[in-house]
Formats: sequence, structure tokens, C-alpha cells
Amino acid sequence: MRISVIGCGYLGAVHAACMAKLGHDVVGVDVDAAKVALLASAQAPFFEPGLPELLAEVTETGRLEFGTDVAAVAGARVHFVCVGTPQKRGENAADLRYVDAAVEALLPHLAPGDVVVGKSTVPVGTAERVAARVAEVQPGAVVVWNPEFLREGFAVQDTLHPDRIVYGLPEGPDGAEARAVLDEVYATPLADGTPQVITDYATAQLVKVAANSFLATKISFINAMAELCEATGADVTQLADAIGHDARIGRRFLNAGLGFGGGCLPKDIRAFMARAGELGADQALSFLREVDSINMRRRVRMVDLAREVCDGSIVGRKVAVLGAAFKPNSDDVRDSPALSVAAQMGLQGAHVVVTDPEAVQNAQRQWPDLRYAASAEEAAAGADVVLLATEWDEYRQLDPVAFGEVVAGKRVVDGRNVLDPGKWRAAGWVYRALGRP
Ligand code: UDX
Repeated sequence: MRISVIGCGYLGAVHAACMAKLGHDVVGVDVDAAKVALLASAQAPFFEPGLPELLAEVTETGRLEFGTDVAAVAGARVHFVCVGTPQKRGENAADLRYVDAAVEALLPHLAPGDVVVGKSTVPVGTAERVAARVAEVQPGAVVVWNPEFLREGFAVQDTLHPDRIVYGLPEGPDGAEARAVLDEVYATPLADGTPQVITDYATAQLVKVAANSFLATKISFINAMAELCEATGADVTQLADAIGHDARIGRRFLNAGLGFGGGCLPKDIRAFMARAGELGADQALSFLREVDSINMRRRVRMVDLAREVCDGSIVGRKVAVLGAAFKPNSDDVRDSPALSVAAQMGLQGAHVVVTDPEAVQNAQRQWPDLRYAASAEEAAAGADVVLLATEWDEYRQLDPVAFGEVVAGKRVVDGRNVLDPGKWRAAGWVYRALGRP
């Protein structure tokens, strides 16, 4: 099937490549000429494991093209809208300007029978609005809402082998026809037995924000327990293991530490609260305000711990921050807890050096005033304290004995609870962590 993908960021670029991998003819469109040029030459514009190999493979087949001219979407039967919905400046609500612009750009090129598929995470009510606009201009086209649940770092795997496929459809024959078209698009994962949920627009839009709210709540729950562990001398990692053995709870997403960041969880829970307020249902989500506060408090606590191990002051102290990305296996620094801690410490008078295997360039653009190093050893040379802020494998595996030789003071704050306290202490380090004695 001929498919178009509007917006080639973390979501769209991966989606386009994966659709080509499934055998479709795909054109990806983005307004960013530099990004399009890279993708057109089969290069990934961001770090995502497996994407470069996939781009090389599918570009070779001739089934994947990229361009900046939206007219290229003409002739495609299915149009995926994959643009970003960032947080509005100074507000909790989502900024829908890119979704609206993508839909407006698509409209002149739609033909009867086309299916416009919304993948972007949007406030409930957006699909209905988009459908009304499409009906005005091309009544023969149908809008479907098909939320995307991919995780950065596992985006290719999550797109090719999703946990579930959700369609929000209009009622009647239009909905049934659109469903048949999308079933053809997803024929391979459906044949693999991927569960499918067929529902209305409102439910489909809510599924995505509900899932992300649940995940954020799970993380903040364990981080609230970490605060209690800190007050009582208990160990949150053992607590998480113990409660995680209960299958009803489960151990995943119970890693206490610096908390969640990235381009999805933080802004999605805020946009959800804002939308609930507009709908007169704000009480239902007031707990998400607490989820957000617990999460932000972890960043402050990390700075306080660093101050504690530096005998009460970080002014003039040399601090090495290991990690800039919001999580390992990503170069994404949007709302990164690691960078937020680094920046706070810099503002409070510490000499901060940040390192990350993949995210230094993006971090530099966002926080040009911080100093950056190419490796953990370089960042930690002469440091008074080392902060582990993003749990990349190479930081988990640091040898405390060898690493102890490069620093000025053997003090480490483990912001992700991934180092072995026994080993680090045995090598002479002062080891502190969030939620651990
Ligand atoms: C998330 C959702 O998982 C995904 O389904 C959705 O489509 C987009 O948002 P992503 O932002 O890629 O994906 O990251 P995720 O793996 O969910 O991690 C989010 C944040 O939570 C990271 O900062 C991570 O470090 C943190 N986290 C995760 C914890 O602090 N503890 C955990 O136990 C798990």
C-alpha cells in the first residue's frame, strides 16, 4: 500500500521505516530540510538503536522516500500524522499547532477513500475536530485515531512488534472501511497475534494518556517510597523487589531514582490535567499534580545529596555528571532529569562537567553554559563528586578501583540505583543513593 508519514521525528521517522519494512511504499514528509536530507540518504537524524540498519535496508528496496514537499503525499491511501505535541510555553496544555498545520497541509491532497491516521498524542477531542475539518474539505476521506506507544531506545522493536494496536473509528460504514484499510497496513503484526482494540475516538485518545499517566504514577509511587526509605534507613531497591514479586504489582517501572523525563511522560500528564480541567473533570486527575511534584522533588534531592557528601557546600566544587539523556539508549534531552540536576548545580556555583555517550551535542544546544566531556574518565578528572544521572551500561560497569584514580575525591551519588554500594565502598568511595541507606 502507498503510505505517507507527516512529521519525521522520533516517532515518524521510525514509523516510516517500519512501514516500508512491512512491505509498503512510503513517503515521509517533514518541514526540516536538514532532517529530510539525512533520512533521504538513509541516515538517522537522531540516535535510535537499530534505526540506521533498518533505514539502510529499506532504502535499498526503493520503498522509502523522504521530502519536504507535502504534495508528495498525493496518491497515498493512508496518511499518518506523526508530528509533535509539545507543552505550550508557560502552560500545562499541549501545543497543537503542528497537528493543525499537518492536517491543513494534507487537505488539498486528499482523495475520496483516503484514511488520515492520527498517531500524535493529543488532548481528547482533537480527533473529532480533525475529522470535522477533513469532512469539510474532503468528505470522502476518513479519520482514524491510532495512538503510538513506542519507547525511545526500543522504537523499531515496539513499532514492528507492538503490545497492542488501537483504532479509534467513526461509527458506520466509513469506520468499517477505514478499519479494513488499516488492517491491511498492519497485516504482519496482526497475523503475529498482536491484540487489537477497536473503539471510538475519545477512548483511543484517552488510552495513550492513560497509559503514560499510569507509568508516571508507578515511577512516582516508588520514588515516594524512596523518600520514606530515606527517612527510615530502609532500602527502596529491596522494597521494589519485594513488592514487585506480587504479579498484581509487577517489578517493571519500579526503579526509584531521579525520576522520569523525556518528550512524553512529563508533558503528557500535564496536558491531561489541563484537558481534564477544560472538561470540568479536574478532580479526577488532581493526583497527577502530586505525581509531577514527587518527580520534580527527586531532582532537588539529588543536588542536596551531592551537597551533603561535599560537606555542606558545592560552591567551587568540581562535579562530574554521568549522563545527559533522559534515559539510556537515547540522545533525547527533552526534560532530562540529568541535565536539570547538572544545570541546577551549575547555577548554585559548582563547576559542572557533563558527559554522555550520545547526547552531548543535544545537551550543548540546550545548556551551552555547562562544560562537556567526551568520556566518564575525562568528566571525572579531578572531580570532587561524581553523579550517576543516566544509567547507560558503560556507567553501570565502571570499575570503582580504576575510576577512583582519576577523581580528586571519591564521592559518588547514584541517581539511578544501579551501582553496587558494597563494591564502591570497598574501593574507598563515599556512596550515596536516592532511597538507599
Ligand atoms: C514513554 C512510554 O513508555 C511510551 O509507551 C510512550 O509511547 C512514550 O513515553 P519513553 O519516553 O521513550 O516512553 O520512555 P520510558 O522508557 O517510558 O521512560 C520514561 C522515563 O521514566 C525515563 O526518564 C526513565 O528514566 C524513567 N523511569 C522509567 C524511571 O525513572 N523508573 C523506571 O522504573 C522506569
